[in-house]
Amino acid sequence: MNLSIAQTVPEPADAHACNESAVPSTGDQVQELLRANAELKQLNARLSDAQDKLMQSEKLASIGQLAAGVAHEINNPIGYIFSNFGTLEKYIADLFEMLAAYEEAETALAGTPVGARLETLRETIELDFLKDDIPMLMSESKEGITRVRKIVQNLKDFSRVDTTQEWVMADLHHGIDSTLNIVNNEIKYKADVVKAYGEMPDVECLPSELNQVFMNLLVNAAHAITAERGTITVRTGCADDTAWVEVADSGEGIAKENLGRIFDPFFTTKPVGKGTGLGLSLSYGIVKKHLGQIEVSSEVGVGTVFRVTLPVRRRPEA
Ligand SMILES: Nc1ncnc2c1ncn2[C@@H]1O[C@H](COP(=O)(O)OP(=O)(O)OP(=O)(O)O)[C@@H](O)[C@H]1O
Ligand SMILES: [Mg+2]
Repeated sequence: MNLSIAQTVPEPADAHACNESAVPSTGDQVQELLRANAELKQLNARLSDAQDKLMQSEKLASIGQLAAGVAHEINNPIGYIFSNFGTLEKYIADLFEMLAAYEEAETALAGTPVGARLETLRETIELDFLKDDIPMLMSESKEGITRVRKIVQNLKDFSRVDTTQEWVMADLHHGIDSTLNIVNNEIKYKADVVKAYGEMPDVECLPSELNQVFMNLLVNAAHAITAERGTITVRTGCADDTAWVEVADSGEGIAKENLGRIFDPFFTTKPVGKGTGLGLSLSYGIVKKHLGQIEVSSEVGVGTVFRVTLPVRRRPEA
């Protein structure tokens, strides 16, 4: 370090002899160093932003994979529980029929020791209660299993890890529905969801990536609802060679000064832990990859509408 200073900063005696404009003064050098340093800092910050963004999208992808893996594992046992349940229901119906026949025969045993034992036993186990309760338990359990099966199926549809990440012609309504089921927990206490689906052809897309876009728009809409309860309306339709999906909310809206920044990575108005500010920037990237557009219109205190427009085919046939 000392060596390089000795080389670049001339001795005072030599300094007189040199042309002043050729050798920058120490002040200039410091300025230059400061400028270079600021530039480096800026570059460094951008690099670490980009790295964070990459990590976040990696994280989303691996969460999706993990969810799909778990869903796949659960799918199998749920499958046989579900099918066994159907059989069990039939067996129990048969057993009840048999029991009714025994009960009829019981009258013939009145007054005998066997008849007395049967009567005591019936009272101890509360047979009448069991006859009412068993069918109820069966139907509640069946409903529970059906729900688990649906959640598992939605998780699989949502991440679609079982299918290769390829461009396919997909029904976006299906993607929106499974995404709505996934985020249902985030939405159901805050908003009613109105589906106003129009005509829409299958769209050439990466379905699991588009589902990420829908998920972020829906969760953002739910977060924006600060009133007791609001409405989220999902509209779809098509025009010419494009399909569109709109997510509208009756939330707090976006302030004018923020409208130009919402797609910036890390721009968030949410408290730490609630938002990273990456949702819309990732969504923007995904929509661009699909050669589409994402637009927003918002009014403070009234609500916000996000509209995603996508070409039906990536390369329209000539
Ligand atoms: N529907 C909406 N209504 C009101 N403001 C919104 C809406 N959608 C987005 N915003 C604003 O845009 C910001 C950026 O949204 P974005 O989805 O990129 O990040 P986030 O939701 O804050 O965090 P993340 O999605 O990473 O969890 C939000 O913090 C919010 O201020
Ligand atoms: Mg978000």
